[in-house]
Amino acid sequence: MLANKKILLCVTGGIAVYKAVALVSKLSQAGADVKVVMTESAREFVQPLSFQVMSHNDVYTDTFDEKDSAVIAHIDLADWADLIIVAPATANVIGKLANGIADDMVTTLLLAATSPVWIAPAMNVHMYEHPAVLRNIDRLSRDGYRFIEPSEGFLACGYVGKGRLEEPERITELVGRFFGQHDDRPLLGKKVIVTAGPTLERIDPVRYISNFSSGKMGYAMAEAAAALGADVVLISGPVAIDPPAGVHIEHVESAAQMLDAVLAHYGSADYVVKSAAVADYRPKAAHPHKMKKKEGDSVLELERTTDILKTLGEQKTHQCLIGFAAETNDAVAYGKGKLQSKNLDWIVVNDVTDPGGGFGSDSNVVTLIGKDGTERTFPAMEKKRLAGELLALIAAKGSDAQ
Ligand code: CTP
Repeated sequence: MLANKKILLCVTGGIAVYKAVALVSKLSQAGADVKVVMTESAREFVQPLSFQVMSHNDVYTDTFDEKDSAVIAHIDLADWADLIIVAPATANVIGKLANGIADDMVTTLLLAATSPVWIAPAMNVHMYEHPAVLRNIDRLSRDGYRFIEPSEGFLACGYVGKGRLEEPERITELVGRFFGQHDDRPLLGKKVIVTAGPTLERIDPVRYISNFSSGKMGYAMAEAAAALGADVVLISGPVAIDPPAGVHIEHVESAAQMLDAVLAHYGSADYVVKSAAVADYRPKAAHPHKMKKKEGDSVLELERTTDILKTLGEQKTHQCLIGFAAETNDAVAYGKGKLQSKNLDWIVVNDVTDPGGGFGSDSNVVTLIGKDGTERTFPAMEKKRLAGELLALIAAKGSDAQ
């Protein structure tokens, strides 16, 4: 499955180092050529010999231990790899990488790397939730690093929570998908961000402005993307439906929070499906206390929110951007305008007055418009089936940018 694939595993110091030995074994069994670099702290937990035996390769630990005088080891290793995985990744290595610090073999070669780098954190739940760690993860995500999220469960420190290194079998499966092995699902190994539901803009602690979006279309898009093989990050406003299995969900409330959440994943995303009904305006002042009624009329001053999709369009490098437009008249003409003004690859347009679809409904009638000139109207069908058909067509065509 992974024959001819060269994988460099960077092992940093945590109790989960023992699982990294199993990971080398799994990757090697799958046919990959695996080389291992360890930090000094990692060597406190497991001897390099274990990795050497499992990988049938030399293990590197010291930047200045040049095994081959013809090359410089940290540059040579970085160039050699098709994929680099940091597992387990401690808070320390994440912090160093986020700040460009290179003070040992692992951090030095990571700065020299040009291949994709995946980071699989493992640490105490409180460390994982520390604002500094979250900030560093956020920064690295924006820089294009891909994270293999830790799972929840019993931690070696005695706590129960998020922080366990993902299982070696699962990481190996993700690597297989990344190299396009396994099966022929069109979004295999692709990272897809889906936004869904309404946003909620607070007026005061008990009141807000929102809209009637049910989130059904967005959740259907997330489910369809996962079924087509994608790694899905579903960023959802407040809705009353359960998330589909197998997607990573992040809950947000306001347009500003949705913008931050999307940007955190944007650098490493291949597709963004922007099905959320984002508020265009929010109250200018959010009152800290409940506003009291007064005699006479009241005027609520509103200010514009950031247009998330437009921002993504402006910052687009390689991503395929899919917008949604809910219209009540001249739907296709308005959709084409938004496709262009927001620099999208695709837009899904629907006339919300159509009896076959709209907010809250289980079905939808849409026209998919591509910047390549594709224009296809789908008959009324269940949102889940429609989501699958839309994504299959989009995945088959890709985007011009890709
Ligand atoms: N969108 C966004 N951020 C906003 C507003 C909208 O990302 N602040 C996205 C939606 O998720 C959707 C698309 O933009 O994919 C909708 O386009 P938009 O022109 O904003 O639609 P409307 O808000 O309905 O705009 P208009 O009132 O101009 O028709």
